[in-house]
Amino acid sequence: MTSKPDYLIAPSILSADFARLGEEVNAVLAAGADVVHFDVMDNHYVPNLTIGPLVCEALRNHGVTAPIDVHLMVRPVDRLVSDFAAAGATYISFHPEASDHVNRTIALIRDAGCKPGLVFNPATPLTHLDHCLDDLDLVLIMSVNPGFGGQSFITSSLDKLRAARQLIDAQDRDIHLEVDGGVRVDNIAGIAAAGADMMAAGSAIFGSEDYAATIAAMRAELSRAAA
Ligand code: DX5
Ligand code: ZN
Repeated sequence: MTSKPDYLIAPSILSADFARLGEEVNAVLAAGADVVHFDVMDNHYVPNLTIGPLVCEALRNHGVTAPIDVHLMVRPVDRLVSDFAAAGATYISFHPEASDHVNRTIALIRDAGCKPGLVFNPATPLTHLDHCLDDLDLVLIMSVNPGFGGQSFITSSLDKLRAARQLIDAQDRDIHLEVDGGVRVDNIAGIAAAGADMMAAGSAIFGSEDYAATIAAMRAELSRAAA
């Protein structure tokens, strides 16, 4: 059996060479990636500072047509939504702790023409989904504490993925279940078996010598998980 066609590999550009970002994104897409995972950090909600809408727009102007999955680790959230929509974001996801009005933020993202996602830190309960899952296109389970690339996968995230998968499967709509943090070739099969269908991976891909070989190895593992 081949890998399920709906597994998406989303390299996190946090681990790319920022001095050559356009080339890096083109290279990883040419190597078989599906989605560009775009980490936005504000040195406030998380203790690190990265990139904003101008860089998203620059990637679009560079010719990137793949979906851009904007992961907002910022507080407040709302003011940035329209900027990222105008900059060409496809998905915009945010952490419930960072928004005073989660339902309003989801609606802002949808009204701006983007796909809304909600992100769960390792200690954040899935109960935040109780009244909004139906409004989402993406649930993102953090398998590390947000802020840095290259951390180790927190194993208890597998139970959370299984629980989120059950909630999603009880819905009538297509909602992606993304995992983010410590995803590597040697654990991606178990992560897929726990229910994730969208794999954000930064250091495992950009830290490798051969992006195409690493993504192919991930897909081989995903086929194994689906078999
Ligand atoms: C962490 C970011 C991740 C990060 C993952 O806060 O949200 O997307 O880049 O990096 P790796 O795959 O190296 O754990
Ligand atoms: Zn991320």
